[in-house]
Amino acid sequence: MRIAMIGSGYVGLVSGACFAQFGHDVVCVDKDAGKIARLRQGEMPIYEPGLDKLVADNVRARRLSFTTSLRDAVGDADAVFIAVGTPTRRGDGHADLSYVYAAAAEVASALRGYTVVVTKSTVPVGTGREVARIIRESQPAADFDVCSNPEFLREGAAIEDFMKPDRVVIGVESERARDVMSGIYRPLNLIQTPMVFTNIETAEVTKYAGNAFLATKITFINEIADLCEKVGADVHDVARGIGLDGRIGRKFLHPGPGFGGSCFPKDTLALAYTAREVDAPQTIVEQVIEVNNTRKKRMARKIIDFCGGSVAGLAIGVLGLTFKPNTDDMRDAPSLDIVPALLQAGAKVIAFDPEGMKEAARMLPGLDFAETAYGAATGVDVLVVITEWHEFRGLDPRRLKEVMRQARIVDLRNIFNPEEMRSLGFAYEGVGRPAPRT
Ligand SMILES: NC(=O)c1ccc[n+]([C@@H]2O[C@H](COP(=O)([O-])OP(=O)(O)OC[C@H]3O[C@@H](n4cnc5c(N)ncnc54)[C@H](O)[C@@H]3O)[C@@H](O)[C@H]2O)c1
Repeated sequence: MRIAMIGSGYVGLVSGACFAQFGHDVVCVDKDAGKIARLRQGEMPIYEPGLDKLVADNVRARRLSFTTSLRDAVGDADAVFIAVGTPTRRGDGHADLSYVYAAAAEVASALRGYTVVVTKSTVPVGTGREVARIIRESQPAADFDVCSNPEFLREGAAIEDFMKPDRVVIGVESERARDVMSGIYRPLNLIQTPMVFTNIETAEVTKYAGNAFLATKITFINEIADLCEKVGADVHDVARGIGLDGRIGRKFLHPGPGFGGSCFPKDTLALAYTAREVDAPQTIVEQVIEVNNTRKKRMARKIIDFCGGSVAGLAIGVLGLTFKPNTDDMRDAPSLDIVPALLQAGAKVIAFDPEGMKEAARMLPGLDFAETAYGAATGVDVLVVITEWHEFRGLDPRRLKEVMRQARIVDLRNIFNPEEMRSLGFAYEGVGRPAPRT
């Protein structure tokens, strides 16, 4: 199959490279000429484990190429995937669909022969039909079908998720389009991946329902963590105790500073907006958004309270800035709420993140950076863990204690063992863990 991928960001680039690995001929398009130039030189514009090798292998095999020319890529394609951004629209919380619609209009004028136009971007219900309308209005004679094929990959594990998905959801309404999509995903039959064929609206809603459910699960355990802190219970044991119930499941029951990232915040907002518009309010999701926003803001207060009510003049070390480990993505990361509030409260903040510092330097003015985790701990009055990068779990507490001015840790991801840290003389606070017995 010949595939054009419009948008070579986190989703487009990973999907394009993985489709090439499936054996298809893929052209990844982006309007960002700098990004395409870097990709052509073999340089990855994002950090995603394993992506550089996957891209290099498939470029070498001549199955994957990069261009800024949408027209060239689309003309020969059997399927065109739209994987452009759908950020929150300023002002009202709805998804900004201007990039999707602009891409659809460009695709329309480049179509030649039967083509399936697939939305891979996360788009509110109704967008697929609108994409079809845009193309038909611009090119009444075009021979095409639209399809909704939402993407469920997680940044940081994106390749594994794409190559071994739990399921693939495909919203199609013609046999021809179904055949093309089945052909594209055929390699996954070998590992018996469930293919969920639906109508277009169902596929669109499925993506939002999935993300909203996961965001709800995180928010639920975060509130249970608050309760645990107040009553001397341990949220990890509670999570294990409920998670072993097969109806609940153990995943997404890790308490923390609130969800962030490029998907959950914007997708919950967009779902709530769409649902209100059609008078089917998603009040649980609305509450999740509210609780999560408040939580992210409250984390700075938690740190300040731990330091005795003021951080003015204190040096605070921060471990981790990205919204989760194994990515350089800073979009809606909890650090974007926490760090400015600490700076505002008069602290000097120095941070280390294995991949996120370049982006963070742009987004967090006033923040200083260290070259290592120990560097971020050196001379500080308190160390705060915001992102649970694997390498932080292996830090030697004794060495941390030696370099820190005061042995105090606020661990917003519960990566350290509270008993061990306290026995080594740290003042330690995690999330949802009981205070030491006095
Ligand atoms: N990032 C994730 O983990 C993830 C997971 C699942 C779904 N999604 C969804 O996938 C979509 C893309 O997300 P992303 O994180 O990859 O975004 P991104 O911002 O990383 O990438 C989007 C890319 O599209 C390009 N672009 C925009 N308009 C274009 C056009 N007309 N022609 C060519 N290129 C164009 C931009 O230059 C950019 O490089 C969003 O709808 C998102 O919600 C993201």
